[in-house]
Amino acid sequence: MKNQLIPQATVGMERSAWIRGLTLNMDITLRPAVSDDGLAVHRLVASSPPLDTNSLYCNLLQASHFGDTAVAAEMEGELVGFVSGYLKPDATDTYFLWQVVVGEAARGQGLAKRMVQSLMDRPTLQGVRFLETTITPDNEPSQRLFKSLARDWEADLDVSVLFDKDTHFGGQHDNEELYRIGPIRR
Ligand SMILES: CC(C)(COP(=O)(O)OP(=O)(O)OC[C@H]1O[C@@H](n2cnc3c(N)ncnc32)[C@H](O)[C@@H]1OP(=O)(O)O)[C@@H](O)C(=O)NCCC(=O)NCCS
Repeated sequence: MKNQLIPQATVGMERSAWIRGLTLNMDITLRPAVSDDGLAVHRLVASSPPLDTNSLYCNLLQASHFGDTAVAAEMEGELVGFVSGYLKPDATDTYFLWQVVVGEAARGQGLAKRMVQSLMDRPTLQGVRFLETTITPDNEPSQRLFKSLARDWEADLDVSVLFDKDTHFGGQHDNEELYRIGPIRR
């Protein structure tokens, strides 16, 4: 099963099934995002250093316009995890993962991996062959997460600097290194 990104139960699943949501272990439901998630996303990110916060307005856009390419993880009505991202406008076979966050209490149980995997299993994202994200050099948990996904998918992982500390951030922020995983075999 290692290579198989699409579990049999998910093949052919209609988008409506995703809207209803999928209940996984720990009574956590994974579903696409809706605008009502925006405020909870904002609060979750703010309480999860070293993530950069974005404006609430930005989180509202992530959860609404980009809701179909986001994952909200909900437990007992509370948002405990979130993935934001989009298909790159100039390369629609590439999913750019903007941020992944798991609330402190839910960490270390595979939730981040499940959220990313659930995205890749969505019928609407079956054309995705590459996953990209950026990580700062000091964020080991995040590096481990994406290395683990690449390993599970038996896909290549390339790392390069996308946004440079001095050139792009004027020395105000560490390098943002691009992690590019793929091609992802289907
Ligand atoms: C990074 C983060 C999303 C991981 O969430 P999580 O649900 O705990 O991660 P998972 O349980 O799915 O673990 C995925 C892999 O990463 C590894 N990992 C996760 N957190 C780790 C940590 N603190 N130290 C070492 N390894 C870690 C796991 O061991 C696992 O690897 P494996 O499959 O080889 O065993 C979470 O810690 C978080 O939200 N951190 C703050 C925000 C952040 O840094 N986000 C990423 C930047 S965009």
